[in-house]
Amino acid sequence: AVLVGRRVKTKRKWGKVVRAMKDFEEGCLTPIGRLRQVVDAMAVEMHAGLASDGGSKLKMLLTYVDSLPDGNENGIFYGLDLGSTDFRVSRVHLGGGTIILEHEIECHSIPQHLSTCTTKDLFDFIAMTLKQFVEKEGSESESIPNKNRKLGFTFSFPLRQTSISSGTLLKWTKGFAIEDTVDKDVSECLEEAMTRTGLHMQVAALMNDTVGTLALCHYYDEDTVAAVIIGTGTNACYVERTDAIIKSQGLFTNSGGMVINLEWGSFWSSHLPRTSYDVALDEDSPSRNDQGFEKMVSSMYLGDIVRRVIRAMAEDSDLFGGGDAPNLSEPFILRMPLIVAMHEDDSADLAEVARILMETFKVFKVPLKTRRLVVRLCDVVTRRAARLVAAGIVGIMKKVGRDGSSGISGGRAKNIKTKRTVIAIEGDLYSEYTMFREYLNEAVTDILGDDIAENIILKEFDHRSSGIGSALLAAASHSSHQAYDI
Ligand code: GLC
Repeated sequence: AVLVGRRVKTKRKWGKVVRAMKDFEEGCLTPIGRLRQVVDAMAVEMHAGLASDGGSKLKMLLTYVDSLPDGNENGIFYGLDLGSTDFRVSRVHLGGGTIILEHEIECHSIPQHLSTCTTKDLFDFIAMTLKQFVEKEGSESESIPNKNRKLGFTFSFPLRQTSISSGTLLKWTKGFAIEDTVDKDVSECLEEAMTRTGLHMQVAALMNDTVGTLALCHYYDEDTVAAVIIGTGTNACYVERTDAIIKSQGLFTNSGGMVINLEWGSFWSSHLPRTSYDVALDEDSPSRNDQGFEKMVSSMYLGDIVRRVIRAMAEDSDLFGGGDAPNLSEPFILRMPLIVAMHEDDSADLAEVARILMETFKVFKVPLKTRRLVVRLCDVVTRRAARLVAAGIVGIMKKVGRDGSSGISGGRAKNIKTKRTVIAIEGDLYSEYTMFREYLNEAVTDILGDDIAENIILKEFDHRSSGIGSALLAAASHSSHQAYDI
């Protein structure tokens, strides 16, 4: 009788898990109608952010990039890319005619303590690494006089730019927290650090990673109109007509258009399918009430949503065969590569899922039904993220009048059905996670319909793209020939 009683109790508890799963799935639903609401909200917020600073959660930052590389650039240029715990230094030798004669890239990790130390420590470390890179180079570039070395600086955090080569940090994102950098001109910080280390280089272009990626994609394909990053953080930029950038108050009347950095990580709309786990994640984060879209979408956070749901379910039922799961309360322990590996485990007994859960949460047993449950959680969270990014992309297409409707800004209806539109896309979620990529592509087609989606080309780039792109923009902003004006 005791045994039967225990079995009934276990069954009841599992029933609670099943209900919790159902609730979570329902909370994450992204039917096409809801996605369309997100599309509209994105386009409306873009509009509001262009009208005035602070007009929307979308910052719609001016980049001062009004011409893009077109393949005719010549010479040797440097790129520096700082945006997550890795940073990259590169040298690109351009031969004209979209020929990159040579490029070299080095990737370095930033010691953890430097992301929360002081501005001087962080920039001194970067400048020193760049100096070592320059000192190692071959004879060809040695002939460049020091002061003529031009650097493109990709700084993947929100910047209020004051020119193509200067801008102040608005806030840190993605776990960086160095208070004394906020409101400082980061190009100056870098140049001062370079001077301290005895390296003489000029920051010729300062930009967001989305902008670097757009520049590289445009170098090869002039139909490029936007770029999207879906990695540790998420963001997008696009080419906007000058007359639509109301807040610039006619400052740029000489150019036809400018690249705008949406900073869509901070996008928010009541149409986003938000669950109690998202709310809790936000409340526990240092950036409360901020970066709402990023927290539902980017690889820094997805694993932690899954971990939170597992933890809540483990409180109701015995998910791990009777043992404690000491690491279940450890924030961010379930990193993105683990989610990908579990989701893609196609073995019958889900052995990889069991191994990962045992190692990560320090448990001894993972019953098959728990393994299945976790795979389903990965699927729900990933699918929601991918479909929301798809809606964001279509939102941009709507704003520029390329979604097949006339767009909220009264975009010209002419030829919209046939116009080829290229969007650069970069980030580990898209490039290293097949399910995510498939869900995203499928949702773009679902929202737009086959005919329109056919002309929207998502071109994949890898993590080196923004660094190379920054060198290209440094070249474009310094080239004697007329670069491709937007
Ligand atoms: C974060 C940053 C943004 C960057 C994105 C992708 O959202 O705020 O500037 O583009 O991450 O790296």
